[in-house]
Amino acid sequence: MCGIVGYLGKKNATPILLEGLRRESYRGYDSSGIVLFNGEEPTCIKAVGKLENLENKLNGQNLKGFLGLGHVRWATHGGVTEANAHPHSDCKGNIWLVHNGIIENHKELRESLEKEGHKFVSETDTEVVAHLIEKFFDGNLEEAVRKAVRLIRGAYALAIIAKDDPQKLVAARLSSPLVIGISANDGYIVASDATAVAPYAKQVVNLEDNEIAVINHNDFYILKEKQPEDLEIEAEDTQRGGYPHYMLKEIMEQPEALENSLKGRLILDQGLAQLGGLQNVSDQLRKIKRLRIVACGTAYHAGLIGKYMMEEYAGIPTEVDIASEFRYRKPILEENTALLCISQSGETADTLAAIQEAKRRGVLTVGIVNAVGSSIVRETDAGIYNHIGPEIGVAATKSFVSQLAILALLTLYLGRQRNLSLVKGQRIAADIQKLPGLVAEILKQNDTIKEVADKYKDFQNGCFIGRKYNAPIALEGALKLKEISYLHAEGVVGGELKHGPLALVDENFLTVAVCPSDSVYEKMVSNIQQVKGRNGKVIAIATKGNEDIKKIVDDVIYIPKTSEILTPILSVVPLQLFAYHVGVFKGCDVDKPRNLAKSVTVE
Ligand code: G6P
Repeated sequence: MCGIVGYLGKKNATPILLEGLRRESYRGYDSSGIVLFNGEEPTCIKAVGKLENLENKLNGQNLKGFLGLGHVRWATHGGVTEANAHPHSDCKGNIWLVHNGIIENHKELRESLEKEGHKFVSETDTEVVAHLIEKFFDGNLEEAVRKAVRLIRGAYALAIIAKDDPQKLVAARLSSPLVIGISANDGYIVASDATAVAPYAKQVVNLEDNEIAVINHNDFYILKEKQPEDLEIEAEDTQRGGYPHYMLKEIMEQPEALENSLKGRLILDQGLAQLGGLQNVSDQLRKIKRLRIVACGTAYHAGLIGKYMMEEYAGIPTEVDIASEFRYRKPILEENTALLCISQSGETADTLAAIQEAKRRGVLTVGIVNAVGSSIVRETDAGIYNHIGPEIGVAATKSFVSQLAILALLTLYLGRQRNLSLVKGQRIAADIQKLPGLVAEILKQNDTIKEVADKYKDFQNGCFIGRKYNAPIALEGALKLKEISYLHAEGVVGGELKHGPLALVDENFLTVAVCPSDSVYEKMVSNIQQVKGRNGKVIAIATKGNEDIKKIVDDVIYIPKTSEILTPILSVVPLQLFAYHVGVFKGCDVDKPRNLAKSVTVE
């Protein structure tokens, strides 16, 4: 995970910055760099690999400056190269900055800045911030930073200096920690981590979300931005990118959403997941004996799959609750239990109330949340962001696959803290890495799925069946169809079919069977035969290469092969497209289904 440090004061910045970086190096890094300013020209030195490589480059140069920035980088956007290492600068070498976090809308910002003539030298998301500040800079650094951060979506801790406004260090924060250390007679040091300021500072100030600190030689002051309201407006204005509906756009951008959720979080050779947001609670998580997951709607379905993942690979007994039930019954929370809440919006009232109840009982709370800086983020002790940008369609799609991918990462993280072997960890990590490409393959079948939707759009009743990892996918497939097309469908666990729902089956009843080639495939084939034996119609979601299934069902949609634990991330995609096309054929408002809301902030 990246670490930032900045210094403005009477001493030489170089050793202070290097010591700060050394103290932040435990966060994990693969390159480093510093920029120093002595009032004339900024000097920037970067190195790949260990901090010693940076120190060796600095040796003998006798670099001095009263102002400077330093950074240890954990690669996310772009490989481990000097060009991608921080600090980053603008076109003129005026603005210099270091960043910890992820700028989610970096692509759009880069494209528009490039059109305006800005030249980029790295592949990073961070460099867009330097150019954005350049665009607004007219001699006053904090004013330019204020304007720039309003356009940024994502998480950031930034330390920034400008050659043309030289007696200042500006720092800004949203959802990434940032602390200002004050040394009475020496100067100011800002850092991601209080340990980095400890040798110099007697007092510290923790910057809050949406605050900008302006530090000069004598004092500092803090500007507060009302950023979240701006984000909402920006999200509503987001273009549909040529798609007829946000829902289709969001389904189609799932490979990119997955890439963003996974960026910088997998360590393939060690079979590990690196989750910066859990760093502060990592020791507590090592000790937990039980996990309780709470969520609502689609996020609850993600939680159900999380249970299968956690119990099989992390060995942690896991229970999943609908948040509204958790808050009103009397859940028994044993010692060493952690509460994991999953929410796209971070604002769902029931989920929030469940967290507050758990906190009151002294339980560690962790979130998987998409909306940066939302209420659930502020309430929980630690968390993992989805980093998938806004989801506008009321029906959750890309947030669901991202939640599943993060649950798989969390399983690796907790599993490798316990008994999950290196080899198994490596295998899962390698398969997680392939997910964006596999989802892209499924999306190529959109036209075929549309034909299947056309064929079945007039059915009035149906059910989705699945087992094990795909049992919750049956629930999610049915929910998607209900909310988008207003057709009635139930999600049924395969084993329960003959305990009731089978009575519904006749030639006018549709069954969608989620049956990848996994450990319960044969059981699913039995379920399909039970339906076919009563003249029901069956669509199968099966693994590519399974030709036999064609003989027993009416239609097949194929998904690529992956580890069993990851199959739900693939099998849900054709079901999202199926629901979407049925909804469009029926003339429904797929982006805003009747009676529903995207973010349910009341009970
Ligand atoms: C609403 C949305 C669903 C979502 C649920 C939970 O009902 O329409 O799509 O799954 O809330 O929302 P959250 O933001 O907590 O994930």
